[in-house]
Amino acid sequence: MTKIRSARRLASIADSVFGEMTRLAKLHNAVNLSQGFPDFEAPQAVKDAACTAIQAEQNQYAPPYGTHALRSAIAADFARRFGVRVDPDEQVTVCCGSTEAMMAVMMACIDPGDEVIVFEPFYENYGPDAILAGAQPKYVRLREPDWRFDPDELKHAFNNRTRAIVINSPNNPTGKVFTRDELQVIADLCQRWDVLAIADEIYDRIVFDNHSHVPMASLPGMTERTVTTNGLSKTYSVTGWRIGWAISPPALTGGIRKIHDFLTVAAPTPFHDAGVAALSLPDHFYTQLAAGYQKKRDLMLDILQRHGFSSYSPAGAYYVMADVAPFGFSSDSEFAQHLVKEVGVATVPGSSFYIDPAAAPQTVRFCFSKRDETLHEADRRLAKLSITSTSDRA
Ligand SMILES: Cc1ncc(COP(=O)(O)O)c(C=O)c1O
Repeated sequence: MTKIRSARRLASIADSVFGEMTRLAKLHNAVNLSQGFPDFEAPQAVKDAACTAIQAEQNQYAPPYGTHALRSAIAADFARRFGVRVDPDEQVTVCCGSTEAMMAVMMACIDPGDEVIVFEPFYENYGPDAILAGAQPKYVRLREPDWRFDPDELKHAFNNRTRAIVINSPNNPTGKVFTRDELQVIADLCQRWDVLAIADEIYDRIVFDNHSHVPMASLPGMTERTVTTNGLSKTYSVTGWRIGWAISPPALTGGIRKIHDFLTVAAPTPFHDAGVAALSLPDHFYTQLAAGYQKKRDLMLDILQRHGFSSYSPAGAYYVMADVAPFGFSSDSEFAQHLVKEVGVATVPGSSFYIDPAAAPQTVRFCFSKRDETLHEADRRLAKLSITSTSDRA
């Protein structure tokens, strides 16, 4: 066999379904409710800070782990909100998005042959990240309607090879916000098995109703065994800027920084200053952000309900999972294809968030981080679905 071929480690990594849905959305001129990015403006003050930095010649490599100002702002924000002290010099690494932060953490903290526990449905990077780090992902189900895990199933997933567990709260794709009690169950197991918690908290500002975000690092005994990843993408509607970070126990920071340095050198320079501006926005920005998204969630749920979907109401993040079994398609992928091609609305088939799509419930994920006009347009188009489906079924 020729040696000019892709590496073997790619064999168990599936292609991303997001790129394909976005391609189909463009091809069929569909309203794109598949990928998780807003179609509205980023905050003016944050954009201004980025433009000012570019004009002020902040255009060469940034300090590899992030400017001191940005690392300090990240540390101060975490300490102020959650009462967990963070040393910007010893614990914060700024990366190219939280995506790179997650990869750098896995590469730096996990050895080949280790196991990494991942809840499913999952954000699609965790399994591949674990595999690229040489580890074996082990999946534990979150079950609808409230996306709870079975504590016994989780307990049985831990063993001597378990090195880390990934917790994403608020959760993509389900909108679940893990309660303190649920996190405590996970924390107890981490402490019992000497396991690292990797907490992806990118949606920490987008929480609804009476739910509240509890960071894993704030639980007793967890500060020293949790790495928290986060970033500017979702909170400030700047997914294209690629600024994220890892907050790690000091003993792990050197390794994370080493991997980050070799992977990317540094995150884009002008956005370090913009990150400082973002993190100094007043509290009412965040109140309005959550309230605005809660309205969009309610609009999305109402639209879906009127078009015959039963949905799982999210407690946070900006996605709704809807049950599509009643529409009578052979799979959720087939339904999602129909939706994008014939109805003109792009979504993500829920089965793509499971390791075994055939064993997944039939759902699709709608992203509602869109202007109200976009959601109203989806509403108009979905009317066609009811007609199509009714006549199909007749
Ligand atoms: C759970 C989760 N983590 C991380 C990311 C990626 O964030 P970033 O843009 O900071 O790489 C996303 C984006 O959709 C996400 O949903």
